[in-house]
Amino acid sequence: MVAQENVNPPSPEECRALADVAATVAIEAGRLIVEERPRDLGVASTKSSVVDVVTVMDQRSQDLLSRRLAELRPEDGFFGEEKGGRIGTSQITWVVDPIDGTVNYLYDIPAFAVSVAAVVGDVTVPGAWRPVAGAVVNPSTGECFRAQLGGGASVQVGDGPTRELRVAAPDRCEVALVGTGFGYVSTRRAHQAAVLTHVLPSVRDIRRIGSAALDLCHVADGALDGYYEKGLNAWDMAAGWLVVTEAGGVIGDGAGGAPTSDLVIAAGEPLHGQLAELVVSAVRRVGPEPG
Ligand code: IPD
Ligand code: CA
Repeated sequence: MVAQENVNPPSPEECRALADVAATVAIEAGRLIVEERPRDLGVASTKSSVVDVVTVMDQRSQDLLSRRLAELRPEDGFFGEEKGGRIGTSQITWVVDPIDGTVNYLYDIPAFAVSVAAVVGDVTVPGAWRPVAGAVVNPSTGECFRAQLGGGASVQVGDGPTRELRVAAPDRCEVALVGTGFGYVSTRRAHQAAVLTHVLPSVRDIRRIGSAALDLCHVADGALDGYYEKGLNAWDMAAGWLVVTEAGGVIGDGAGGAPTSDLVIAAGEPLHGQLAELVVSAVRRVGPEPG
């Protein structure tokens, strides 16, 4: 296994260039999914369960991202949620979610995003990779969240002014607004619901927005105080992870490691430890997920 600490990050200048590329292609894909959304958009196929849907636009968005990144960065690898990936010859792999919040997209609820991240390390091995640049675009609001390693995180709406992002700073769970999400498989959902019954009484409230990438960006801009979820894939979290940390937040697996599909917990520094303790103790009380 390649430990992420052993992978040399690109220079600050290269990270900035990578973030420019991420933002450019994410904005293009965001425009595509809004402008070319079929009137009769339906479910093209399903994945892990009947509620884990794919629309024609998920694949079209990924194809656009794949083609544009091959033009702009031909030596890099490509790894996305839908079909089609490639191994690169550089140290960079692009990790993309062509539509994060696909169910919102299907129902025309304006909380879906295109997420594009440049990462180093082995993206197929939990804990062995990390993002160095990324962008998350919500095409319904025009927001483009972006971050580069060591260079801060910002948001820009269309051609408007750029605003630096900073996480909120509540220091107790009782006053924290916390986002979370649910997987697509029924047994996982039942487990997540049981964990939630132990978390909900101890926080200000819970939000289930429906896009993990946007949840993480909302932690970065202080619209959410914290976020946790079990079962995320690399493409859900890669860009949002860096947006959180570059906005001064902390993200991890609740046990001192990098975020993985086992658990992602994100919040500002004062809250992170408490939220991690709350979620991890709730998981302990509920017991392991069946299967
Ligand atoms: C999903 C969303 C959702 C989260 C799920 C993800 P998708 O991604 O990010 O908020 O709760 O875990 O799978 O399927 O819309 O790309
Ligand atoms: Ca996703």
